[in-house]
Amino acid sequence: MRLWYGGDYNPEQWSEEVWAEDVALMRRAGVTLVTVGVFSWSRLEPSEGRYTFGWLDRVLDLLADGGIGVDLAVPTASPPPWFSLAHPDALTVTRDGVRLTHGSRDTYCVSAPAYREASSRITRALSERYRDHPALAMWHVHNEYGTPCHCDHAAAAFRAWLRKRYGGLDALNDAWTTAFWGQHYSDWAQITPPRATQYLPNPAQALDFRRFVSDEMLAHFAEQRDLLREATPGVPVTTNYVLAGWACVDHWKWSREVDLVAIDDYPSGQGMAAAEQTAFAADLARSWAGGRPWLLMEQATGYVLGPRTSPKEPGEIARHSLQHVARGSKGAMFFQWRASRGGAEQWHPGMVPHTGPDSRVFREICALGEALKRVPAPLDGPLDGPPVVEAEVAILWDEEAWWAVQGPGLPSAEIDYLAAAEQAHRVLWRQGLAACFAHPSHDLSAYRAVLVPSLYLISDEAARNLAAYVEGGGTLVVSFFSGIADEHPRIRLGGYPGALREILGIRVEEFRPLADAIELPEFGRATVWSEVVHLDGAETVARYPGGGPAVTCHRLGGGTAWYVSTRLDDPGYARVLAHAGLAGSGTPGVEVVRQRDRIFAINHTEDEQPVPVDGTDLITGKPVDGRLDPGGYVVVPL
Ligand code: GLA
Repeated sequence: MRLWYGGDYNPEQWSEEVWAEDVALMRRAGVTLVTVGVFSWSRLEPSEGRYTFGWLDRVLDLLADGGIGVDLAVPTASPPPWFSLAHPDALTVTRDGVRLTHGSRDTYCVSAPAYREASSRITRALSERYRDHPALAMWHVHNEYGTPCHCDHAAAAFRAWLRKRYGGLDALNDAWTTAFWGQHYSDWAQITPPRATQYLPNPAQALDFRRFVSDEMLAHFAEQRDLLREATPGVPVTTNYVLAGWACVDHWKWSREVDLVAIDDYPSGQGMAAAEQTAFAADLARSWAGGRPWLLMEQATGYVLGPRTSPKEPGEIARHSLQHVARGSKGAMFFQWRASRGGAEQWHPGMVPHTGPDSRVFREICALGEALKRVPAPLDGPLDGPPVVEAEVAILWDEEAWWAVQGPGLPSAEIDYLAAAEQAHRVLWRQGLAACFAHPSHDLSAYRAVLVPSLYLISDEAARNLAAYVEGGGTLVVSFFSGIADEHPRIRLGGYPGALREILGIRVEEFRPLADAIELPEFGRATVWSEVVHLDGAETVARYPGGGPAVTCHRLGGGTAWYVSTRLDDPGYARVLAHAGLAGSGTPGVEVVRQRDRIFAINHTEDEQPVPVDGTDLITGKPVDGRLDPGGYVVVPL
């Protein structure tokens, strides 16, 4: 099967003559799939129950004639202005009690009955209209789910969710420690989402609300998915996850519900940092997909960096795309096909830039389309078969723990779970060690090592799992502020890190967040955090300037558990991994990824580099003799 290649296509911004040119250009670029209609609700249903499908019929017909498949969107991420006017109660209310107005996108309350009803209506109408359309290849529900709402509808749904989770108020009061600050609830009606309040909110309430928001949005997704599955049982249904710091959903849970995991990836760094972040995102996606193929649904031909938007350097579009394909993406998709002339994202880069097709970017897009034609899609394989890429090292990933560490009132505002996970991944990547991500309760026995990045919250079950992993011979490397709290998140008493004390063979008496950097002999600069660590079976590997243990190592059963009680810079963290037996022989910036049936090599550096690959490059048909050009890449069958 061919790889998918294309992007979001929003033709309603353009006149019909442009559509014909679009399809001709897509064919020139080798586009095979476009996502259509993500934000088209107001053009498809201009007033309640009245549909104007004619334009979409013509677009889909044109695409079908051009041999281009359609990932047809359910446009619920942008309800029409008439809807918001008719149902002001379905507009988002922020934590501060401000009811947002129409004028952007994503302004809805996922718990509002009118929104749920309108969502199902447009989903049903689209599925009935296009169920047999020859261009239909996939359904794309919504866009980047991630709008929490704090209104009364959300409050009612939150209470229902809490009743299910806790059964009774006694259990809730206990879990939320409402005995403190006089928060005891004697009636469900007293409970609200964590709205603006005088001082610190209750952390258990804040965390449960984030769990609820994820589940509530998932229920909305599942409603549309079930309607679509009923109409077109063979057509996969997906939604695109947003990555980076905006983690509004529990990706492990969601990935069990989608037919295909799909991510949007917009690195926040440039150059080598972008390559590192791209590998991180793609490894996450593959892990969420359970090791099976998945899809890069959106990326950009340029960098969208908050205050600046700039083009990617020559070759980066292809290298980033191949990083994803190497890690099991079924294709490379972009946002968006043609850069808008007006509207909120008029400066967002496109596959066809403002300059038009006579441009470096479009030439690179055509060259990439040509290259991807020659690389078959990754093998799907059975659900219980081998993963598309084997990894020896797992990094623990858990959104609940991340949300908890984003909660109020922690001992340092600088503890950053994402940064810790990224550091663990980056340090492995630079040495050429393949990594994946795992939930703390997953079976970890297949991994040579498991890295635990500042995982504040760990359940009893996960702690038992980690203990069994080490006892069974595994290598565990735990970073500071892991295993401190239970799932509510209440501190585990008797010495930190309560859940991991026995595994690590230590007892931490005090936390000492750092205002200034300190130096550890051999391990270099340490920042953010330090601890008063007592040994209880472990040995000291590195000491603080005052002499106390900073890095420790504990043999338990057949395995070893390492503890890093401060934030080390990358070289120091790499040194810990080397002590733990994790040192790769890769060249920094040269990426080699092995799939079951081929090997990808990508040179992100500006120099020619040796690579341990021989054979014939699928893309150029030329022999690969163990060297890669500056910025070059090859795909060689095994
Ligand atoms: C996201 C959205 C797109 C677009 C891009 C811009 O990924 O899904 O609609 O806004 O960001 O970066």
